[in-house]
Amino acid sequence: MYSQAKVIAGGLAHIPVVIAVFYFILTTFNKRALKFVEEAKTKKPEAKPVEPKKVAVSKIEAPKTEAPKTEAPKTEAPKVVKKKHADVPVNIYRPKTPYEGTVLENYSLLKEGAIGRVNHITFDLKDSDPFLNYVEGQSIGIMPAGEDANGKPHKLRLYSIASTRHGDDFKGNTVSLCVRQLQYEKDGETINGVCSTYLCDIKPGDKVKITGPVGKEMLLPEEEDANIVMLATGTGIAPMRAYLRRMFEASEKEKNNWNFKGKAWLFMGAPKSANLLYEEDLQRYLTDYPDNFKYTKAISREQQNTKGGRMYIQDRVLESANELFNMIENEKTHIYLCGLKGMEPGIDEAMTKAAEEKGLNWSELRPQLKKAGRWHVETY
Ligand code: FAD
Ligand code: A2P
Repeated sequence: MYSQAKVIAGGLAHIPVVIAVFYFILTTFNKRALKFVEEAKTKKPEAKPVEPKKVAVSKIEAPKTEAPKTEAPKTEAPKVVKKKHADVPVNIYRPKTPYEGTVLENYSLLKEGAIGRVNHITFDLKDSDPFLNYVEGQSIGIMPAGEDANGKPHKLRLYSIASTRHGDDFKGNTVSLCVRQLQYEKDGETINGVCSTYLCDIKPGDKVKITGPVGKEMLLPEEEDANIVMLATGTGIAPMRAYLRRMFEASEKEKNNWNFKGKAWLFMGAPKSANLLYEEDLQRYLTDYPDNFKYTKAISREQQNTKGGRMYIQDRVLESANELFNMIENEKTHIYLCGLKGMEPGIDEAMTKAAEEKGLNWSELRPQLKKAGRWHVETY
């Protein structure tokens, strides 16, 4: 009896121990389980943003950051690359609203015994608003007074500017022209050109309608060590006079801050010695700058070419073929052609022969020079 009661009592006595063990196991498990859950909770938010960030950088941001690197030069290029001669003024005055300039002087450039009429004419620009500025090698338009046969105002005619941007008096507010009066015979009658006669006849104080400036074909290169070959007939010397003043005229050089160091070679065609234009100035430049200036004349009615015909500038080009083409082979050399349209085939022929003597092909070379902006032509 006693031992049965003891066993029962002993068994009952273990119940709290078993409960305690169960409780311990349960709470320990719960804590671990809770801790695991907590850990899982805190880890998840960290893990999630990592991936989206990676995706965002590679898929969205990467193209954004790379695109400007490759596209930037394409879009910015036009801003950086300035159009050639973009600063050169054009069409400040147009035919509907021309500037009325005052004639300051108008005098003959010819000597006793010369053929025809060629005048140097200067206009005052100081009252122009906007100011009519220009650079060497440009032209202006002149609208002659009066009406044509149909009762309409005369159309403008272009004239090459013969002065530098600083003007003949270096004050920077005049423009000068070199004008030959057009005269020809028709049915036994002498016909005078409308505008050239008007210009040769105007007097100081007269008002003249001026347009422009125009033209970018005959501009000088900026390089101080460029070589400039000039082929001119008659009034074709107008732009060349401006170039030569810019290169060699003392007061002009003080103003222009451009110290020409290259070689300038003028081939000049005139019918008679008395028709040579600006001759005293050119002789002065020869004396002052013997190493930089060369002057070759073709006086058609006083000199003969090798065939016994009139001496033209193309004959002089042939005589100097070797020296001329040595210069042309130098990429710093520019060639300017101005004056009679009729001289173009003759010049081309002479250049072809001159090039052949140097083993060169002028029909290939000329377009190359033109493309390089070294062959400048303005004929009329
Ligand atoms: P118009 O009265 O216009 O008569 C000319 C017309 O007469 C011709 O179109 C033709 O139909 C006819 N004609 C001409 N000659 C003959 C002939 N022998 N036989 C029959 N008919 C004929 N000129 C200069 O003096 N100096 C310059 O610096 C100068 N620069 C110029 C620059 C450029 C860019 C250009 C395009 C021309 C330049 N000229 C220059 C020429 C100028 O523009 C005029 O053409 C020229 O002065 C004649 O104009 P006009 O009004 O006197 O003649
Ligand atoms: P010419 O008239 O004796 O035949 P200007 O304008 O003062 O008359 O000068 C033009 C010069 O150009 C003149 O010596 C003239 O000669 C000359 N000339 C005329 N035709 C040509 C031509 N086709 N090629 C080159 N020079 C020419």
